[in-house]
Amino acid sequence: MKKKDFLSLTDFTSEQLRRVLKKAAELKRATDHRPLEGKTLALLFQKPSLRTRVSFDVGMAQLGGRVIYLSPDEVGLGQRESVADVARVLSRYVDVIAARTFRHEDVEVLARHATVPVINALSDREHPCQALADLLTVQEKTAGTNGRGIAYVGDGNNVAASLALAAVMSGADFRIASPEGYDLPEGVVAKVRVLAAESEVQFQMLRDPNAAVRGADVVYTDVWTSMGQEEERKRRLKAFAAYQVTEELLAAAKPGAILMHPLPAHDGEEVAAGLVDHPASVVFDQAENRLHAQKALLIELLGEA
Ligand code: CP
Ligand code: NVA
Repeated sequence: MKKKDFLSLTDFTSEQLRRVLKKAAELKRATDHRPLEGKTLALLFQKPSLRTRVSFDVGMAQLGGRVIYLSPDEVGLGQRESVADVARVLSRYVDVIAARTFRHEDVEVLARHATVPVINALSDREHPCQALADLLTVQEKTAGTNGRGIAYVGDGNNVAASLALAAVMSGADFRIASPEGYDLPEGVVAKVRVLAAESEVQFQMLRDPNAAVRGADVVYTDVWTSMGQEEERKRRLKAFAAYQVTEELLAAAKPGAILMHPLPAHDGEEVAAGLVDHPASVVFDQAENRLHAQKALLIELLGEA
């Protein structure tokens, strides 16, 4: 059987996505299940991480498996050794690889040359593991994703791309407000449009944050300067100045709307100072759900013994 990878939301059908979310909800209730006894996950990271690293490590241990963490300096991906050779060698030792890279092409090359499943643990193009946890959180907090409205305010980055795909695949309307020059990439937009049409949901790209959040069940934002873009920070702070999620903007959404953020948050930049502690904020539930969603993902890719 062909191995499965998870580099993008589009590696899953809507059906698979539903199955993984259902499994995640089950695993959240019952933690005495160890179907990955004897399996090893390699975490191959070129960037820092708190949530992704710890949730994969703890999740794999809870499922009976183990994790080997490989830091950027240890492997020198593409420098000490080619990405293809790293994939071929790791495949001889481990059962699954989760890679956090700068270039999305690197996770693609890893997946092409590995004989074991490869998971995108964040690249410059997508953050699909985050989107799984996001959907699980929306499901829990708003009684399902079908017919919900998700509004994203800010940079059309990796998190926004995966969220847009995840939202429309799961029957939610998706609206994004970004400043000019920071839209979702065209390739992502094209895919989201096709999937939105298939699911008969709305997808809109706007400039005005107020228009985006009006009537939304979810207000979502992420950092303005992602890892690897640090030298653009000054320019970005200026470009995004009118895109901060404030208590006022949140109040323009549907009554009872939730505030989401993948974390780490830059308090006082994309979210007003202290807003992650607002009663509408579900950011820590969202962080917890990384654990449950990724356990379900690992079972989906490796099968259940
Ligand atoms: N949200 C997220 O991926 O967090 P980390 O960068 O800490 O893993
Ligand atoms: N967009 C952010 C997400 C971090 C979890 C980044 O890529 O740095």
